[in-house]
Amino acid sequence: MTSKLTIRRPDDWHLHLRDGAVLNAVLPDSAAYFGRALIMPNLIPPVVSAADARAYRDRIMAALPADADFAPQMTLYLTEGTDPEDVAAAAADGLIAAVKLYPAGATTNSDSGVRDFDRVRAVLERMADIGLPLCVHGEVTDPDVDIFDREAVFIDRVLDPLRRATPGLRVVMEHITTSDGVAYAKAGGDDLAATITTHHLIINRNHILAGGIRPHYYCLPVAKRETHRLDLLEAATSGNPTFFLGTDSAPHVDALKEAACGCAGCYTAPVTMPLLAEVFEAAGALDQLESFTSLHGAGFYGVPPSEATLTFTKGAPVDLPRRVPSDAGPITIFDPGFPVHWSVTP
Ligand code: NCD
Ligand code: ZN
Repeated sequence: MTSKLTIRRPDDWHLHLRDGAVLNAVLPDSAAYFGRALIMPNLIPPVVSAADARAYRDRIMAALPADADFAPQMTLYLTEGTDPEDVAAAAADGLIAAVKLYPAGATTNSDSGVRDFDRVRAVLERMADIGLPLCVHGEVTDPDVDIFDREAVFIDRVLDPLRRATPGLRVVMEHITTSDGVAYAKAGGDDLAATITTHHLIINRNHILAGGIRPHYYCLPVAKRETHRLDLLEAATSGNPTFFLGTDSAPHVDALKEAACGCAGCYTAPVTMPLLAEVFEAAGALDQLESFTSLHGAGFYGVPPSEATLTFTKGAPVDLPRRVPSDAGPITIFDPGFPVHWSVTP
């Protein structure tokens, strides 16, 4: 039996598009399914100024397929040298939708991130004044903290004090992976939201480590134990507007993933929407798919939901794409490890 589902065109509120050859290879996948995406600024060198964001947006627009209906929402990478006036002007121009906080050393290309939070106080206060969201990679980088505890410790040691010190600052907890993250986001009020990725709704840490090491399931924050995944699933499917989709689709060429020291990041963009349909249906929550992917994030970022639609068809198991070629080498696409029955007509 075939069934169909039509939802408003989704938005991806956390996306890595990279640059050059990889940008050219991966952009059509996101543009096919998503109307908007919040573009992460962790290039080398990072996107730190309004001028950088404008130039990067121009490169993305130049790489877009001609008939695409896709509007990149740019971000700036917060550094200890970020100028509050540059941020405010970029926001007033509609150039940026958010500023991204990476604790220095937390993840891929985060060396320019923040070490001393007092040094970004003026920027955060300006952002609170103008209502510009701060997107936070919520992990401490202290080598003494176990990698599976870094999100929970970040909430206590960094995020909560930072929010208390900056009343009115709008914050997105990016790619939450723990029950602690879910609970903190739920209790946070209107100024706090959290994105959840596709892969963290599907894998737990056993998928990465049991029966052989699976580099294509390694991302940061790293997937946690099953109880955390179940809480993320409950949050994503609950209809609570605090939670919305940010895929964190993070392509790396296979040579950099399948290595002695492999890069963090799961490349999910080409398969995210069919996978989410499968996951939401299995959770008995297909009726909440649209709110998670197409409504809650737009609400938080203050943009209207898309007028366009995306239609899903359910049938026999589909052959998902496995790999995307690029001029820098092939990029393996996230494999959910279960049959998927939904296909999507953009
Ligand atoms: C991201 C990347 O590759 O840029 N990697 C990841 O594992 N998610 C960075 C990030 O979002 O942490
Ligand atoms: Zn990311």
